[in-house]
Order: sequence, then C-alpha cells, then structure tokens
Amino acid sequence: MKPLIVANWKCNPTTLEKAKALLNSIKKGVKNIKNIEVVICPPFIYLPILKTNGAQDVFCENAGAYTGQVSPLMLKNMGVEYVIAGHSERRKYQKETDEIIAKKIIAALKNGLKPILCVDKISQLNFVVKEIDNWKLKIENLVIAYEPLFAIGTGKACSLEKAKEMRLAIKNKVGAQTRILYGGSVNSRNAKEFISKAGFQGLLVGGASLNPKEFIDIIKIVC
Ligand code: PGA
Repeated sequence: MKPLIVANWKCNPTTLEKAKALLNSIKKGVKNIKNIEVVICPPFIYLPILKTNGAQDVFCENAGAYTGQVSPLMLKNMGVEYVIAGHSERRKYQKETDEIIAKKIIAALKNGLKPILCVDKISQLNFVVKEIDNWKLKIENLVIAYEPLFAIGTGKACSLEKAKEMRLAIKNKVGAQTRILYGGSVNSRNAKEFISKAGFQGLLVGGASLNPKEFIDIIKIVC
C-alpha cells in the first residue's frame, strides 16, 4: 500500500488567492510522484474551488436543521475522499467527545468517505471500534492518526520508540488492514524515520504543510 501523506491546513490561509497559490505550488512539486497518496485538507470554504480530496471535519447527519454544519453526503458529492475527525483541536475548542467523534466516523463510513481518526491515547479508539463493529462497516476504510498532544504544533515530535509502541498498540486494537499515520511536528528532517523505523503507513502534517517547499520535501523523502 502506498504511504499516505495528509496536509491539514487548519484555519489557514486567510485568502482564497493564497490557498490557490499554496495548492498550485504543491501540485507542481509532486506532479511526477506516483507511489504516494497525497491528501490536502483545506478549510471548508475553499473546497468547492480547490476541489481537493480531503476535509478537516465532517458532521454526523446527511441533511436537516443543523446550522453551520457540513454533511458527509455534501462532502462526498463534492468529490472528497478523506475526512479528518476527532482532531485534538476540535476536542479542545469545540468540546467534541469520543461519542460525537464516533458518530462522525460512522456517518463518514456510511457515505463512502474514508475517515482519519486522530487519537492521542488508546482509549479514544474504543468507542469508534465498537460502533464500526455494531454497524458492520469496514474497518479497513478507517485511517488512524496517532497524534500525541505534546507534539502538535510544538516543534517537538514524538520519539520513535514511543511512536512505534503506540502504533503497535493501535494495530492490536484495529488489525493490520487499518492504516496508521503519525502526526505532530512532522518536518522534512524527521518524516522518513516515522515510516522506515517506526513503521507508520503515512503522516498527518500540520504546520509544515503550509510551506510548499517543506511539504514537497516531506513527500519526496518518504516516497
Ligand atoms: P503539526 O500539526 O504538524 O503542526 O504539529 C499536526 C496536526 O495537528 O495534525
């Protein structure tokens, strides 16, 4: 399976022009790279224009009286393939619980999207795994990103030993069919080892994905 590199732009950039320029630079840089899967998750407002394959969040219902929400069916109809769910910033600022996140994951899977569940501890997996089982959905369409809180946006990535230990613990819960990514202060200097030494099947990149040269370097180093 090809390594999966996901760009999470978070609440950036602040204009459509800058978003277009960032995407164009990334596209140019990775044009000839085939053996890697790249997912770009911009803010929702840019999605219909940029037509990228990823989104940063998803709601748990397809339609209805839910002001401000973006549904999995809308994203699917927009051509999106992957959606991040349960990012630690949403757990913190939007007070999302494991129950809410599990509903989002189920709704995404039912709509044929591939959710990327972010966790920083194993207990955050339990609810989701149980629900996927209850609904008899395919766990291989789930992607998990191990993102230790201390490493997100701090410039201090997780040690390879700890990251590998967590990857193996997650694999024990979900089986070998589910891809497991590492996220948290990934850059072009540490990217390779999370794949080659800690055994992850891809990376979730925040800050470094806003710098096209750095993000392209990460992709080139990994492939
Ligand atoms: P970072 O963010 O790469 O800036 O640490 C990762 C993330 O929050 O997904």
